[in-house]
Amino acid sequence: MKTVKLCDNKEGIYSAAQILRDGGVVAIPTETVYGLAASAQSDEAIAKVFAAKGRPQDNPLIVHINSEEMLCSVVSELPEAAKKLAATFWPGPLTMVLKKSDKVAESVSRGLDTVAVRMPANKVALEIIKEADLPLAAPSANISGSPSPTSPHHVIADLNGKIDAVVMSDDCSVGVESTVVTLATDPPRLLRPGAVTAEQLSEFLPNLVIDKAVLSEPEKGEKVASPGMKYKHYSPKTEVFLVEGDSNSFAELVNQKENCLAICFLEDEDKLSVKTLCYGKATDALSQAQKIFALLREADNSGAKAIYVHAPEKKGVGLAVYNRLIRAAAFKVIKL
Ligand code: TXA
Ligand code: MG
Repeated sequence: MKTVKLCDNKEGIYSAAQILRDGGVVAIPTETVYGLAASAQSDEAIAKVFAAKGRPQDNPLIVHINSEEMLCSVVSELPEAAKKLAATFWPGPLTMVLKKSDKVAESVSRGLDTVAVRMPANKVALEIIKEADLPLAAPSANISGSPSPTSPHHVIADLNGKIDAVVMSDDCSVGVESTVVTLATDPPRLLRPGAVTAEQLSEFLPNLVIDKAVLSEPEKGEKVASPGMKYKHYSPKTEVFLVEGDSNSFAELVNQKENCLAICFLEDEDKLSVKTLCYGKATDALSQAQKIFALLREADNSGAKAIYVHAPEKKGVGLAVYNRLIRAAAFKVIKL
């Protein structure tokens, strides 16, 4: 299959919407990561998404909407808390899991009675949804397991020839996937941290619980609330180690290693004698989030034997960065 590269202008948006209405799959920009979109009303279109990504069959998709009316069409219940969160954080990087309606194709939720839904804060994405006049199911537009795509070039590297089209737009401003919170359980539960932080959500959901899978490896065979949490994720081919400790001890460890690469903070750079990629100041979690997936890809292409990443703080947006890195590292954490 030839993958068509579309511009993010009026014509490109129109063509993307046509392909989606015809049951095709198109990679589209969002503020978090590029998504591989398909009609959330078509089981055939959804099957193409799973095939192109090599996605595990039990991992449900997020549905993207552009209006309250479309939200009401995909859910069967809209609790007060969901209305408040939508009013505060949408459009934006927050996904809510709610009871689903029968307007969502069965294959979107892989047998669950809930649907994950969000309104993205990206003009091009919102216009494509509007033009297609369809809720769009869209997982990240990468091969399952590899780092998520934050530029259209990452999408092409992974999926060229496997999808109908990609909308060539800007790099993603947030850089890590949306926060996922389920309101279908009591108490509500944070399933995946993102740029809308646990601290922000707790103001609206005082009894919010942070799911155990956010920071630890699920046991073999354990039932997890969000199926995506149990898979190897975000991983380059090169082995990754996540290192917790101060700048001096990080440098001391990494400088002893041969042929390795360090993903580090700005403050670490002067102390390191190995090749480095910097993902922002230690306190700048927004920068770390925006850069991390692109740097994991770059590190993977560098020929290094191992990648050592200086771990961010586990709070605010840093919790989201830590959550992705611990998976990229297959839970190999070095505590100094
Ligand atoms: O920022 C994002 O959310 C991006 C962009 C494209 O919008 N999308 C994204 O999709 O990250 P994906 O498929 O890579 O991640 C979806 C996550 C998975 O962890 C999945 O298990 C969870 O959401 N999920 C989806 N539906 C669910 C449901 N009904 N209940 C619990 N978890 C669900
Ligand atoms: Mg993904």
